[in-house]
Amino acid sequence: MRQSPLVVVANRLPIDDSVAPDGAFEWRRSPGGLVSALHPLLRHTPATWVGWAGGTGPAPELPDVDGVRMRTVPLSAEDFRDHYEGFANATLWPLYHDAVEQPEYHRRWWEAYQRVNQRFAEAAAEAAEPGGLVWVQDYHLQLVPGLLRALRPDLRIGFFLHVPFPPPELFMQLPRRSELLRGMLGADLIGFQRAQAAHNFAQLAAKVLGLSATDRRIGVDDRVVRIGAFPVAIDTAEMSALAARPEVADRARRLRQDLGQPEKVILSVDRMDYTKGIEQRLKAYRELLASGDVKVRDTVLVQVAVPSRDRVGQYQILRDRVEHQVGRINGEFGRVGEPAIHYLSQPFDRAELVALYRVADVMAVTPLRDGMNLVAKEYVAARVDGTGALLLSEFAGAAAELEQAYLVNPHDLDGLKQGLLAALRAGPEDVAARMRAMREHLAHNDIHAWAASYLSALEESGSLVGRRPAAR
Ligand code: ADP
Ligand code: F6P
Repeated sequence: MRQSPLVVVANRLPIDDSVAPDGAFEWRRSPGGLVSALHPLLRHTPATWVGWAGGTGPAPELPDVDGVRMRTVPLSAEDFRDHYEGFANATLWPLYHDAVEQPEYHRRWWEAYQRVNQRFAEAAAEAAEPGGLVWVQDYHLQLVPGLLRALRPDLRIGFFLHVPFPPPELFMQLPRRSELLRGMLGADLIGFQRAQAAHNFAQLAAKVLGLSATDRRIGVDDRVVRIGAFPVAIDTAEMSALAARPEVADRARRLRQDLGQPEKVILSVDRMDYTKGIEQRLKAYRELLASGDVKVRDTVLVQVAVPSRDRVGQYQILRDRVEHQVGRINGEFGRVGEPAIHYLSQPFDRAELVALYRVADVMAVTPLRDGMNLVAKEYVAARVDGTGALLLSEFAGAAAELEQAYLVNPHDLDGLKQGLLAALRAGPEDVAARMRAMREHLAHNDIHAWAASYLSALEESGSLVGRRPAAR
């Protein structure tokens, strides 16, 4: 289907520079949904990944990673502050997640966003072969499709948004809303996680730009831009194979022993982000401990929360509050050698994370809003013995697919408590039937199916050039 190597453009490269405990410099896989989705997909295919390597200053030269060419884009300290921490993660991120924290608007941040998007577009233009295919990812780079089309009209350009796309009432707040919409419309195909997001986008294209738009096609100048939902996935087979490895099963057994052989282990794995609902979940857990519905001797909660965007004020405040909450709950309800919550703010390698999934009787994934949430899918894929209960927020994109999870509204504290108790107390048949249905879904809807459906839609989108969409 594809003639020339694919060029993927994403804010982050799949590896991140970091300092090992012995002080040595090393590369490691960056935690986050985008890398988890794309890394297994591109491995061993002729592709170039254009992205940022995680530091500031000149771009380091990187070797190929699993056969994929790495092309680094540098960020200065100012770009990092104003583009990455600022416009991407303190304006767009909160706005796109239901404004659960207040988005900030600064003109200097917008200038940095434009400047950095231009740099990514130039790097992509240099990397792509004539008539090639470029796939731009996520909210950091919404202007790239338009900028790239101006530089290289010969290219087929795709854009995929990993995070939610908000309803018009929220998006209309953005001072530079028309420019952002126009930037995305430089693509031939714009993919979203959910149909509702495509609908929101079409409404905005009509309202803000006066374009003729349906939930599938938008007419822009002499082009037709296709839009649609393509829920992102994981490499289900790879995750299941890793979980089935004897050393992972052994590690899971040892972890259970180390946790004191409780009757039930509850696990949560999040980036430390205010969209993930960590505070609400801890509050619900505290109330269950206080009421005696959950007892420390029988049940343990393991909360993994890897620090993220840790210089952004809202993230610093969240981390302090979560750590205060964990300390308080352990102080009130823990016993010597038996903490109520095992709190781990470290990145783990895949095998350790999967061993944790295998040890968890209940996986609590309760974001306030999430584009997809791949942790929920990873947990299901890792439950190779068919056991395990998934407690899942209705506000995660994954809830549209994993309908057999114990679904909860994380804003409703009582509902959250009841959902957690239901998952803890469910009978084995109910748990197994739900897990079977979810595993079946993920076996067919994996990352390879996702890429195939997106890329074939992108191929088709080219053939529509010049035709205007039918009016709604
Ligand atoms: P987001 O994209 O918002 O980070 P997702 O749930 O979609 O949320 O993806 C998170 C990804 O990061 C998953 O693939 C998960 O396995 C990985 N991850 C989360 N926490 C850690 C951690 N402590 N160490 C390593 N990987 C992690
Ligand atoms: O899709 C959510 C996302 O922003 C991804 O782009 C990224 O992989 C992940 O969250 C982690 O965020 P960051 O790159 O800021 O560490």
